Amino acid sequence: MAKQIQAIRGMNDILPGQSRRWQYLENIIRQVVAAYGYDEIRMPVVEQTDLFKRSIGEVTDIVEKEMYTFEDRNGDSLTLRPEGTASCVRAGNEHGLLYNQQQRLWYMGPMFRHERPQKGRYRQFHQVGVEVFGLDGPDIDAELIQMTARLWKTLGLTEHLTLELNSLASNEARANYKVALTEYLGAHAELLDDDSKRRLESNPLRILDSKNPAMAEMLAAAPKLSEYWDDESREHFNGLCARLDAAGITYTHNERLVRGLDYYNRSVFEWVTTSLGAQGTVCAGGRYDGLVEQLGGKGTPAVGFAMGLERLVLMLEQLDQADLPAAVDVYVSAMGEQAELPAVKIAERLRDEFPGLRVMQHCGGGNFKKQLKRADKSGARLALIMGDDEIANEVVSVKYLREDKPQQSLTWDQLSQVITTIHS
Ligand code: HAM
Repeated sequence: MAKQIQAIRGMNDILPGQSRRWQYLENIIRQVVAAYGYDEIRMPVVEQTDLFKRSIGEVTDIVEKEMYTFEDRNGDSLTLRPEGTASCVRAGNEHGLLYNQQQRLWYMGPMFRHERPQKGRYRQFHQVGVEVFGLDGPDIDAELIQMTARLWKTLGLTEHLTLELNSLASNEARANYKVALTEYLGAHAELLDDDSKRRLESNPLRILDSKNPAMAEMLAAAPKLSEYWDDESREHFNGLCARLDAAGITYTHNERLVRGLDYYNRSVFEWVTTSLGAQGTVCAGGRYDGLVEQLGGKGTPAVGFAMGLERLVLMLEQLDQADLPAAVDVYVSAMGEQAELPAVKIAERLRDEFPGLRVMQHCGGGNFKKQLKRADKSGARLALIMGDDEIANEVVSVKYLREDKPQQSLTWDQLSQVITTIHS
């Protein structure tokens, strides 16, 4: 036998049984973003490499070591998108959607990062992202968090997720803080691991993110970013907290939440769970008021977040929260060649008269036992059987596959009534 070709490590197939859980999740997300009046935008999965270098930042993990970058046949450097914010800003600038306008957008799709695969961390993964342009107050930051809180409620995940908030303040305040932090960390250089030593020059704030227990005590005593906040950022942060308090959304202020992408300022947040092991951040985002201008547009405030769908699906699976509907409602069988066409007609008539009803037609022949086995395996609630007797008497036999009820012979009108009750 020829050698089989396997999928690329960290890039997963979503198989038929699993895809139903994905659809369930995606449908609920669509409903929630629609409930807040957001519009969908779809961007290409490949962009010019410079777009990500200029937005995410040259000295971030993503740009330094995780991007799928290649030269295309014209010799241009292209990259499979590692996230959606940069593309969204690029598209907004390119089509004149942002300046002096308010836009509330969302997107869904695959992203690519060459990370070490583990549970909840993949090389192709899927995000739903939400981005808002043209609004600079804490009211919109709060709206985004309220939207996510509503999503968790609808999915039954509320009690498994906690919200962490911080403010990265203005660029100037952050630069002042960076000086103080670098000085402090430099004075404790003997405690820094190799990764942190490397970051000390390039991106000291990221050292605060370190999970290394040997550095925990030293980091806990480090200067706090909030001591360097400018007044406007403090006011913005307090405004956001007040709104979340009023909405009954609990949070913790995590002084060490800095995020791994360079474009953020002011509010940043993450929804975290302890139920997924090391990859516990399910949804993350914040403000990026400078990015539109940095990518060549006119200054426009912006805020957004993205959530990892694989991580949400894993949570739903673990909690078994998603009530998965079977793929089929009604299975239509024919006993004998004579009955085949009438059975097809019944199936088509059902599809005509009950839009949304999922009707599977038996194909491939076989005896009664085999057909019923297939009907059962399909997950359908009803098996409809056409045979010589049914044709002669102008009825359909109905077998209830999930209820303890006797088989019945029904006219079309009687069948319609039964279908109406299961298809409401
Ligand atoms: P991020 O924190 O890099 O932010 O990713 C957001 C979410 O995507 C993470 O919290 C996680 O759930 C999921 N995720 C990231 N990497 C992986 C991976 N390798 N495997 C599985 N899931 C993953 C952003 O991407 C920003 N663009 C978010 C944003 C939008 N900020 C403002 N607007």
